[in-house]
Amino acid sequence: MKIITAVFVVLAIGCFSNAYGVTFNQEVNAYIQNLEKQAKQQDPSFKGFSAERGKQIFFDQQPHQKLGKISCTSCHTDDVRKQGKNAKTGKVIEPIAPSANPKAFTSVKNLEKWLKRNFNDVYGREGTAKEKGDSILYISQY
Ligand code: HEC
Repeated sequence: MKIITAVFVVLAIGCFSNAYGVTFNQEVNAYIQNLEKQAKQQDPSFKGFSAERGKQIFFDQQPHQKLGKISCTSCHTDDVRKQGKNAKTGKVIEPIAPSANPKAFTSVKNLEKWLKRNFNDVYGREGTAKEKGDSILYISQY
């Protein structure tokens, strides 16, 4: 029993580097693996997530009814290690880079909620699995 408990504790709190060399907890690693599976299903030529494409997604400006233009940088600035400011509400946003915010990329529920909302704000639709994985890889390098 003790051994089983110990193994469980290690699995539950342990952090693992994934195929991209980025360290997340197991819950987030499993989420990224799942995004990979979906991306592959949607596009058989998919070869893995790319921080380069993620950067493009992050900086690409889109037309916006109220703000004129919007991109991920409108709220998160062009440096994910810095505090941002919500372009819609004016509220301060804590940095989303793991190096600057220990809470970043620790909860799948939170990640899903904000990616869905944020992609809708910028691109007027939900992000695809590939776009979400690319964005995560870009941001989590910092
Ligand atoms: C209108 C403002 C706004 C825009 C535009 C925006 N975000 Fe966000 N984002 C937020 C807010 C607010 C949070 C929540 C911060 C918190 O939990 O304190 C957030 C959180 C996140 C998180 C969560 C990190 C974590 O693990 O908790 C990620 C990832 C993220 N944004 C990525 C993006 C990407 C990619 C884009 C562009 C497609 C984008 N954001 C555009 C406001 C924005």
